[in-house]
Amino acid sequence: MDMLDAAKAVRLNAHAPYSGFKVGAAIRSASGVIYAGCNVENVAYPEGTCAEAGAISAMVAAGETEITEVLIIADAKEPITPCGGCRQRLAEFAPPDVAITMMTVSGQTKTAQMGELLPGAFDAKSMET
Ligand code: THU
Repeated sequence: MDMLDAAKAVRLNAHAPYSGFKVGAAIRSASGVIYAGCNVENVAYPEGTCAEAGAISAMVAAGETEITEVLIIADAKEPITPCGGCRQRLAEFAPPDVAITMMTVSGQTKTAQMGELLPGAFDAKSMET
């Protein structure tokens, strides 16, 4: 299964009864394996998690920590960009040159690099004294 098929398939499993907005994310790791995640909402709204967070958890649980490619898909008028929190989550494992592809289910596509989505990121170097 490729990145697009993985993101499309996992999106259908999203638990989004409150927003009605299903999101799918696929992440390719350094080993080439694709990890998928969907948003999982909760009746206590702030406890919900984004699709990207789910895909990152699956990757880390499998023992991997390097992202080489990301694809996010949602049913919207225009491709959605990852939320601020997910930009920081992705940047933990994705170098600035990693391509983030954003797609609508109808096929509209946008691409940006990690470093464009989160310029001036707070990273491990920021904590050097
Ligand atoms: N959502 C994601 O899963 N990823 C994003 O990049 C943006 C937003 C989810 C969170 C919530 O379940 C729904 O979309 C509406 O915000």
